[in-house]
Amino acid sequence: MIIAIDGPAGAGKSTVTRRLADRLGFQFLDTGAMYRAVTFVALRDDVGLDDEDALGKIAQNIDLRFEDDKVFVGGEDVTQAIRKPEVTRKIKSIADAVEVRRHLVSLQQKIAASGDFVSEGRDQGTVAFPDAICKIYLTASTRFRAIRRALQLEQQGVKAGLEEVIAEINSRDYNDENRKVGRLLKADDAVEVNTDNKTIDDVVDELEQIAKEKIADSESSQQRSKSPKVV
Ligand code: DC
Repeated sequence: MIIAIDGPAGAGKSTVTRRLADRLGFQFLDTGAMYRAVTFVALRDDVGLDDEDALGKIAQNIDLRFEDDKVFVGGEDVTQAIRKPEVTRKIKSIADAVEVRRHLVSLQQKIAASGDFVSEGRDQGTVAFPDAICKIYLTASTRFRAIRRALQLEQQGVKAGLEEVIAEINSRDYNDENRKVGRLLKADDAVEVNTDNKTIDDVVDELEQIAKEKIADSESSQQRSKSPKVV
């Protein structure tokens, strides 16, 4: 079973998705970490960010492993490294590369086939898992997202003014909403949840309720399709 959670940067997706997965006993898939890991390898190996073939090959061959809350590339723990501002600044070329997206979406589908997952990203309900039993589109106002992002940066020891962070968020929104393939889009059948002024627990409670209803609907429709028709 797949629960797909999409939305813009800073809407609180990672934190609430992780907690939702714990509550439901599902695994968590952070697809942003996959694009970050490919960017990390491209920068480390000095691969041209306009060389789509080479970027596609990195995505095709990357030895990526998720373990607990950590991300490993070729056995190296890159959890912190992939969140550095230089990776975030360069990620656009990687997320725009059609070949990268093709390989990463296929990897996401392969991973998710192994169990029940809550998967978060930008194109999970639209491209990777169009048949997900539950789709959620998590949003928040630019101001709330910028405050969250500034706090995250502060925890990493990076000081940034709110105006600077708002400009970064606006630029990432533009990139996410305008890429040719896999752009950020609310799926027609997604439930939109705005996280402004809500605590993490409030949001997780709301998502848990939505997810449990969708799971129950899906189980009862499976039950109906199995039971013999009475004529
Ligand atoms: O969620 P995040 O900030 O860690 O994502 C990093 C980047 O990866 C983000 O700028 C957009 C991109 N991304 C994507 O294009 N498709 C996804 N499914 C997930 C992330």
